[in-house]
Amino acid sequence: MKILVLHGPNLNLLGRREPEVYGRLTLQEIENALVALADELGVELLFLQSNHEGVLVDAIQSSSVTCAGILINPAAYTHTSVAIRDALSAVGLPVVEVHLSNIHARETFRHKSFIAPITLGQVCGFGVDSYLLGLRAIFSHIEKGL
Ligand code: DQA
Repeated sequence: MKILVLHGPNLNLLGRREPEVYGRLTLQEIENALVALADELGVELLFLQSNHEGVLVDAIQSSSVTCAGILINPAAYTHTSVAIRDALSAVGLPVVEVHLSNIHARETFRHKSFIAPITLGQVCGFGVDSYLLGLRAIFSHIEKGL
């Protein structure tokens, strides 16, 4: 089973970007933690970080053939991107949305997610554990064959 893990804009800066909000782990360290869990679960992960909406849309479109699901932190595109939402709807794979911070406890513009309504669910506010819980959730959903 392959799962696509997508990271949106500015997440390449993790570790030095607003550590009081996003923590001190780098994106590489988050991916290492995901790989360790994926090995336990027997899942293969494909990773992509991009600062460009169209690159994320292209990756989502390509994933329909190769992947069983998508774990995504759309970052700022969460709050703006109809294109990413439409791409996720179009491929029809199960999707789990994750955020390091609790977007509902932050500025009001972050409370709205264009993505959440077409996902299985959203995990936010737990730092790297949001990703790990999200991976467990999507894996368990796919395993059940739902
Ligand atoms: C984020 C939350 C978003 O509001 C923000 O734009 C990000 C990161 C998070 O993981 O907490 O870039 O997705």
